[in-house]
Amino acid sequence: MNNGRNGTGANGLTASSCNVAPVPQAEIAAICDRFGNDKHRMLDILYDVQDRYRSIAPATMDAIASQTDLTRIEVEGVASFYSFFSLTPKGRVTIRLCDDIVDRFCGLEDVVAAFEEVLGIKVGDTSADGAVSLETTPCIGMCDQAPAAMVNNVMLTSLTPETARAAAEALMAGQSPESLVSDRFHELSPHERAVRMVENNVRHAGAVLLGPVPEEAGLNNAVGMRPSQIINAVEESGLRGCGGAGFTTGRKWRFAASEKLDRHFVICNADEGEPGTFKDRVLLTERPHLLIEGMTIAARAVGAREGILYLRGEYVYLRELLETVLEERRRRGLLGKEILGVKGFEFDIRLQLGAGAYICGEEGALISSCEGLPGEPKTRPPFPVSRGYLGYPTVVNNVETFCHAARILGQGAKWFHAMGTEGSHGTKLFSVCGDCLNPGIYELPYGHTVWELLEMVGGADAAAVQVGGPSGTMIGRDSFHRKLTFDDLATGGAIIIFNGQRNILEIVEYYMSFFVHESCGYCTPCRVGNVFLQKAIQKFQKGLANPEDIDYLKDLSGTIIETSRCGLGMTSPNPILSTLKNFPLVYAAVSKPSKDGIRDTFDIQSAIDGARKIAKRRSYIFDKDFTQ
Ligand SMILES: Cc1cc2nc3c(=O)[nH]c(=O)nc-3n(C[C@H](O)[C@H](O)[C@H](O)COP(=O)(O)O)c2cc1C
Ligand code: SF4
Repeated sequence: MNNGRNGTGANGLTASSCNVAPVPQAEIAAICDRFGNDKHRMLDILYDVQDRYRSIAPATMDAIASQTDLTRIEVEGVASFYSFFSLTPKGRVTIRLCDDIVDRFCGLEDVVAAFEEVLGIKVGDTSADGAVSLETTPCIGMCDQAPAAMVNNVMLTSLTPETARAAAEALMAGQSPESLVSDRFHELSPHERAVRMVENNVRHAGAVLLGPVPEEAGLNNAVGMRPSQIINAVEESGLRGCGGAGFTTGRKWRFAASEKLDRHFVICNADEGEPGTFKDRVLLTERPHLLIEGMTIAARAVGAREGILYLRGEYVYLRELLETVLEERRRRGLLGKEILGVKGFEFDIRLQLGAGAYICGEEGALISSCEGLPGEPKTRPPFPVSRGYLGYPTVVNNVETFCHAARILGQGAKWFHAMGTEGSHGTKLFSVCGDCLNPGIYELPYGHTVWELLEMVGGADAAAVQVGGPSGTMIGRDSFHRKLTFDDLATGGAIIIFNGQRNILEIVEYYMSFFVHESCGYCTPCRVGNVFLQKAIQKFQKGLANPEDIDYLKDLSGTIIETSRCGLGMTSPNPILSTLKNFPLVYAAVSKPSKDGIRDTFDIQSAIDGARKIAKRRSYIFDKDFTQ
């Protein structure tokens, strides 16, 4: 639809100004038309436009706006939110080097130097001939094979300066990114392509997910059960969400099922953005049928006919594999109308590719992103189970949670409940990386101690372990007896190991820079406060801090936790708080007593005091053991 907000010339081209290339309206219209001119498919539209024109230029946004009945500002709001979209022209090949701390410790600097030397450009630049752009990006989910990079849709892993140089030379010689993987790339199956690019590193297969899995056992049982019986089984199993928060899955499904609206949705959260986490990548590659089976069972339980698989943009190399699996299941009557021949059992899934934004893992932001909006969290309540995607009841679960649910329906709730510990039932996938001999995936029942895991992975000389990624907890050797359970050390899966040579302040500073980069910017304490925290850590790194700065770190952290709208801000100070608690000497060793003991730093507590009083929110008191 053209709402007449943009002028179109007789030749079907528009020019937003006389010296800008005209925009081919017909081509933009065709792209939008492929997605039904639906504003909720804005990410897909922007991806296609960017693929075609190498950027999302202002005049292009006008054209998209007129096709989707939005304003240009709304389109620009989406295009500028996601880091994988660019408003200025990118190279025909974009190399995104993973800049995670694990990559840095594994030799990223030399890999960057090799790329820069051969390509003749610096990180952040595009070559003058428009052939190639070189950039860095936060964790791309390859920490077990760092350093890693995305080259358009192709993944390169375990890079060395030599392999980086060879890849850059091949690209300079005009070879395609796919040819870096194999000269037979196009003959390989989608699964073969995925595993050629990325090792799965399954080091320990447990009884539930990575051991033998009978085909469709869960779905075959579920079709003979009433929705309430399915929900009872999931509840009795004790399954809790594997995305980090650990909410009881059966209860979530029950809430959604109890909502009497005519549409319900099931969304799989495959955003997996927490640095150090890569377990969902392995499930998506090795157990895609089990995942879709779990989503289909959830759909039957809550009465959903529509589902979305939200795949992080960094995992675009898995898109074809997943689309193939969806197509195969449609053919086999496992998706679509009358699933397994059952009248009225209808469910299908569309894949939504994300576009490089960690915040989109937060379920409200994930829903916003699925709706074609900037990935901003939503105000809660209402919760997604009542009013989620497009305002309808929506179940959002992690990839691993859906896979577990399918196995529970296949093998029985008691079987699952018997594994693990009280309150943490079943198995858990741990993504282990960093300073150990055998990084990779370990499927273990809940309840192992950190020591036991470290022995398994060849990391017994660890000095520190980051449990749960940057938003989790960093512990030292005196806490390695603690258990990996929801009640002790909860984790969405990330276990990052650091040996005694690593600089804790460097790690903390990196994690704070990550949160600064990934804050959606909606709340001032998160947007501004994390910048101040990062700066304060830099002060410690430079040896310019006073003991009073430790109080400043605690006060400011407390304020950010207290006043942030979503889980990102509520956990972003954790790298600081957990290291202050578990590694106090690291801070004490580099702080010098000030002459007068007066802080010269900005006091955000006082600055927001007025607002807090108006909002009737109490002040956060830093007295709890937040790692418990
Ligand atoms: C900043 C932030 C990022 C998150 N990222 C993810 C993610 O990548 N994957 C995920 O499953 N859950 C993530 N979560 C948790 C989700 O909000 C939500 O709790 C989860 O998808 C629910 O699924 P589950 O009950 O199966 O765990 C994130 C939460 C926050 C606050
Ligand atoms: S806490 Fe941070 S990420 Fe969350 S809504 Fe506020 S600004 Fe955005």
